[in-house]
Order: sequence, then C-alpha cells, then structure tokens
Amino acid sequence: MLLLSSRNIFISYVQALVMSFHGWTGGGKNYVSKFIAENMYKLGTKSQYVHVFVSTVDFPHEGKVDIYKLNLQDWIRGNVSRCERSLFIFDEIDKMPLGMINGIKPFIDYHESINGVDFRKSIFIFLSNTGGPDITRAMLKMWRSGKNREDISMVDLEHLTQLGAFNEEGGLHKSEIIQHSLVDHYIPFLPLERRHIELCARDEIIRRGHKATKDLIKKVADEMMYFPPENKLFSTTGCKRISQKVGFLLADEEYNRLFD
Ligand SMILES: *[C@@H]1O[C@H](CO)[C@@H](O)[C@H](O)[C@H]1NC(C)=O
Repeated sequence: MLLLSSRNIFISYVQALVMSFHGWTGGGKNYVSKFIAENMYKLGTKSQYVHVFVSTVDFPHEGKVDIYKLNLQDWIRGNVSRCERSLFIFDEIDKMPLGMINGIKPFIDYHESINGVDFRKSIFIFLSNTGGPDITRAMLKMWRSGKNREDISMVDLEHLTQLGAFNEEGGLHKSEIIQHSLVDHYIPFLPLERRHIELCARDEIIRRGHKATKDLIKKVADEMMYFPPENKLFSTTGCKRISQKVGFLLADEEYNRLFD
C-alpha cells in the first residue's frame, strides 16, 4: 500500500491511476485488490463503486469484442459520472480478447474532464499471470545467490518490466495501454512458499471455527504441489483452493472421529 500513497493519489490527478499486478496464480493479486477496495469503500468489493470484471466470465467470446467494448465503455462512463472515485478491477486481463483493452484507454488517457465527467480520480487495476514464470526464475536465481525473500526489492525485479516480461501474449500485449505507457505501476507478486501456505491453511481452519493444530496445518500443506522438483521451494497454486482442501480434511477428520 506504500505504493498507493507514494504517488500522492489524493493530491495530484494527472490521469487515472493504473496498476498492473503480475505473478503466479494464488499469489495474492485478488487478495491485495480486496485490501484496496476495503480501504477505500465501507462495503469493500461489495461497494457499488467497485467493479470487478473477470475476462473468462464477462468477456468469453472472441467474436463479441466490439459489443463488449461498447458495453464496457458505457459502464465506465456511466459509473464514473456517478462517482469519480470508482475502482475498476480487471481479473485475467491476459485472457481479455485482444484489442478490447484499448477501449479503456481513452478513460485513462483523459487529462481533463470530458462532458463534465472527470476520470482522473478513478483507479484501474489489472490482474494477470503474465510474468509469473519470469518472476519465479528471478526469485530462484536470487535464492541461489543467498538473497532472502524479504530483502528482494522492486529494483531487483524492475528489469522484468523493462524486458516486457509482463506484457507477453495476452490482454496487455500490443495494447495501446502499453505502447503509451499508461500503466503507472507494474507490481510483481512473488510465488508463495510452503510457510505461506501454512499461514493460509491456519487462517482458513480458524475461519471455519476449528483449532488450527500443527498436525492439521501440515496435512493441508502436504496436499499441495511444489516446484521446482529439486528443492520444492514454491507452491504451484499458491493459496488457491486451500479453502476446499481444508474443508475436505476437516470433513475427513470428522468422519474418522465418528466411525473409527
Ligand atoms: C456500472 O457498471 C456495472 C458493471 O459493473 C454495470 O452493470 C452498470 O450498468 C454500470 N452503471 C452505469 C450507470 O453505467
């Protein structure tokens, strides 16, 4: 959240704030978007001012790009005229039909109000898995050279943005948003390690009203897959589906308790 405040978003409005979150699946991109929504609006992601689009759900058909684009533009215009501080989250933007993303560009690019609507206070967040493999490779390299995860800074990963690792084939690829550098911040999300999985498992067990024993947490973490094969450093799916795994294990324990 440091990044949010560092750009003085509440002081200068040059254009809408655009952040692009990148990283392995289950690494916390949605989770952090939720933090932002919750810190901006009383109702968090349930606020009428927060708009979440998931490409595979909301824009599934390649052939309907034109219609999607028009709809989306209407929605952005309509919603921002109701509230200038609207938050738009585009999940799986790498799966958004090519070209569609350019429909958003005018709203980000406006430097003044258009017909009385000012888009400069809105926030756009793009989520995608692109760059995930490159971030992981960079992490492995740093791990091998003895660098702690906690000591990895933005500078260590910045070269990935420059290399365009975050813009590989997909929604942002070749988009005008990239060409005109309208993305203010590329935020890499590091792949999660076993200890993070254990924390997610613990939270989920407690959330379900159970006692988070070491044994149970270990069982959940054991169920997950890790890579690379030689040191099993990172979780393949991050904290995704931890909830279901915990649910399953708890049900299993309950069953054994009753019928053993
Ligand atoms: C606001 O956005 C939502 C989609 O999140 C859309 O359904 C709705 O029609 C929009 N409202 C306006 C006033 O454009």
